[in-house]
Amino acid sequence: MIKKINSVLAILAIFFATSATSSFASCEKGERVVKLSHVTGGTTHPKVVAANNFAERVNKELNGKMCVEVYPNSTLFGDSKELEALLLDDVQLLAPSLSKFGSYTKKYGVFDLPFIFKDMDAAMSFTASKEGKDLLNAMEDVGFVGLGYWMSGMKYFSANKPLIAPTDAKGLKFRVQTSDVAKAMIAAMGASPQPMAFAEVYGALQTGVVDGQENTWSNIYTQKFYEVQDSTTTTSHQLLAYLFMTSKQFMDSLDPKTRATFVKIADEVTVAANKVVKGQEEANRENILKAGGKINVLNAAQRKQWVDAMKPAWKQFESEIGADLIAAAASH
Ligand code: LMR
Repeated sequence: MIKKINSVLAILAIFFATSATSSFASCEKGERVVKLSHVTGGTTHPKVVAANNFAERVNKELNGKMCVEVYPNSTLFGDSKELEALLLDDVQLLAPSLSKFGSYTKKYGVFDLPFIFKDMDAAMSFTASKEGKDLLNAMEDVGFVGLGYWMSGMKYFSANKPLIAPTDAKGLKFRVQTSDVAKAMIAAMGASPQPMAFAEVYGALQTGVVDGQENTWSNIYTQKFYEVQDSTTTTSHQLLAYLFMTSKQFMDSLDPKTRATFVKIADEVTVAANKVVKGQEEANRENILKAGGKINVLNAAQRKQWVDAMKPAWKQFESEIGADLIAAAASH
């Protein structure tokens, strides 16, 4: 009997956890249904919050015309399919990491260069500059429209053993996003990069398919990576930010008034999301500690060893990204 009650409770817990992370308005007849798909989960993740806020505003301000449905946690499309799905109009809104556009543009490699941004403020200052804003439209020829940059956080390495010096990573396998810069950066540490979809990372860490990964506090907490890793180290080596995006096909299908409201909401939600993101990251760092996860805090001399090991990977990408763009980003 107790067993039965427990399994009912477990099912209810799954139901409420899912519904807390989705923003499913019940769309009315005659409303244009717009699907927003993303890969992150939990309730405290910056992308989850921003996506749900966007849906809530559209569903209120364009009530009767448009209805946004949010699909978190790779439930509609995962990393490998979502960009194609956008071009096929099977989904209308996405917010992929800037590290996942290698097949469409090399320019976004600039965001992945290790240690190019000293913190998220530097990254936000770059994205607000002319060069940063121009990059929103770097994939116009493909049919992708950038609506705004959603910051997420700096990234940290975790592994199944403590990583204090970069030599501790030698010989280990690290899951990376599909970014050539990330692959080169891991190789520069004498480790081996394994590109993999986000939804598969927890299982791969748990079963030992990979030894480690690199991500933000928000992803490490909400995906529970800390459960299957020895510890996370404060390398702060790269930025994770998203392109909140749609397709030209979708934008062209909107009447001018609806499009203007849609763009205004996207702009305002982006500004609001980036204002609170540092606090969300800090809270998720605390959440990891509260949940029993371990964090190795590097001192300045220890961190410099990581900079020295990974930064030379920049050189390989100078010609495809462009030396001017790299210099512009590094100047913030
Ligand atoms: C990852 O694949 O590690 C992240 O880009 C997932 C995300 O969207 O935060």
